[in-house]
Parts: sequence; C-alpha cells; structure tokens
Amino acid sequence: MLRNSPSQFGLLSKLFHWAVAILIIGLFALGFWMVDLSYYSDWYQTAPFYHESFGILLALIFIVSIVWRTIEISPTNIASHKHWEMVASKQAKLLMTFLIFNILISGFLISTADFRGVNVFNLFEIPPLFEAFENQEDITGQIHKWCAYLLIGIVVVHMVAALKHHFYDKDETLKRIL
Ligand code: HEM
Repeated sequence: MLRNSPSQFGLLSKLFHWAVAILIIGLFALGFWMVDLSYYSDWYQTAPFYHESFGILLALIFIVSIVWRTIEISPTNIASHKHWEMVASKQAKLLMTFLIFNILISGFLISTADFRGVNVFNLFEIPPLFEAFENQEDITGQIHKWCAYLLIGIVVVHMVAALKHHFYDKDETLKRIL
C-alpha cells in the first residue's frame, strides 16, 4: 500500500523516513570525517563533492516528504503511549525538522560563500542564490556544525525511544514504520 492507513505507514512514508534517516547519518559521518582531511589526501576534493551532492539530494527528498506529510493522513496514536511520550515525540520531530532545514541552508551557504555554485553529482549546478555577507563561511560553518551535532543527539534519543517501544513495551511503534 502506497498510502498511510489508520494503523500503518504506507510505502511512500516508509521510503521517505528511511531515505532521510540514512542520508542524515551518512552525511554526518562524512562531514565529521572530511573536515580533518589533509590537503594531500585523495579525498580532499571528492569527500566535499559527495557531501554536498548527497546533501542536495536530501534537501529534495526532505521537501517532497514534508509536502507528503502535510497532505497525507497520519496513523492514529497507539493507545498504550503515555501523554508525555506523545508530547515529547512531537516536539522532537518538530525540532529535528527545524534543525534539518538549518543544516541544509547553512551547508549551502558555506559551499557558496566564495561565489562557487554547488555541483550536484556532475549533473547540474546550483548557483549561489544570495549575495554573500561578511564572514559567511565562518558563521554558517558554526551554525552547520552545532545544528548537525544537536540533530545527531536527538536522532540517537529518537532511535533509543523506538527500540524501547519495540523491545520493552512490545508495542507496534517500530513495526508500523518498518
Ligand atoms: C542533514 C544534512 C547534513 C548533515 C548532517 C551535515 C553534517 C556535517 C558535519 C557534521 C560537518 C562537519 C562540521 C565540522 O566539524 O566543522 C559538515 C561539514 C560541511 N558540510 Fe554538511 N551536513 C549536511 C548537509 C550539507 C549540505 C546540504 C551542504 C551543501 C550543499 C553541506 C556542506 C558542508 C560543507 C561545505 C562542510 C565543510 C565545512 C568546513 O569546511 O568547515 N552539508 N557537514
């Protein structure tokens, strides 16, 4: 089933969820590793190229997934979930969405701070869309880094919560997105 039902997420929601999850974890690991590469490393140019290309791919998937989430019905709440769990999970999702947008925009602004466009998988280029401001690379670099660290922290809590529901509470939370 492509669409969500009251008891299950549909195929499209599952695909968006796991594509975004894999891209975020992969981009974090790649970003974390690539900033310490030496100028003489073979990956010095290639790692940022893939980081930026997959980052733009994430931006495209993420925007489509947000549109999908707003027009599609959500499965109903699981009865055994406590009120505070539902509130916390909703707030965490809102915060993750906010952080992802910040990371995508700041990433784009770091890459285009020197008036260079972003080359996406050698297929097309996104030109710098805004006039650069003073110290753009440093300021957006700090925003990018700390939002990415905070995002990964929340992703870990989100994963632990899903595993707790699956193995400890033994409810349907994880199963219905798998
Ligand atoms: C959710 C998606 C993303 C995550 C989780 C992520 C994560 C990271 C991390 C952890 C770093 C290392 C930060 C540091 O320690 O200084 C980094 C660096 C970087 N990212 Fe991303 N990133 C994402 C998306 C993007 C996008 C879309 C672009 C550009 C189109 C981008 C461009 C860059 C650049 C240019 C750097 C190097 C910054 C520097 O040299 O200081 N990132 N990213």
